[in-house]
Amino acid sequence: MFEPRRSFTAALVLGLFLSAGASGALAETAQDLYMFHCAQCHGLKGMGDGPNATKEMPVTPRDHTSALEMGKLTDGDIISAITDGGTATSKSSLMPPFGKTLSKQEIVSLKDYLRKLCNCKGR
Ligand code: HEC
Repeated sequence: MFEPRRSFTAALVLGLFLSAGASGALAETAQDLYMFHCAQCHGLKGMGDGPNATKEMPVTPRDHTSALEMGKLTDGDIISAITDGGTATSKSSLMPPFGKTLSKQEIVSLKDYLRKLCNCKGR
């Protein structure tokens, strides 16, 4: 038998549950994302000296604190490098694509985080 009251309550509870989950994900800051996904190559402070950046690597990961280097990139360049990897900006494929791992929103927040590290604006 159909019980409108009960299904309304169930929908309400489900809604609360979903919104709690969403705000939990938002609490993950750009810095957390950076430490988890990027620091192994780009270094804890973004200086391109993470433990995976060995001498055997043919290119060194970008030093995100260099205003000179990072200032050459537009916000769009940074976003496409993170989304589609190094080859998207004709850089090394050692820079992996994150478009499938991270949401658009997370990638934009990482771009803002990198702008803070270099203390610079794009072209
Ligand atoms: C496996 C190592 C590795 C990881 C992990 C990695 N990167 Fe990189 N990244 C590189 C390398 C190597 C380059 C330099 C490519 C070049 O200059 O040819 C680079 C370059 C970049 C650039 C500059 C691209 C350009 O056009 O100059 C940006 C921006 C960047 N990485 C952001 C990130 C962010 C944000 C993360 C984490 C979500 C990340 N990277 C994770 C290795 C890595």
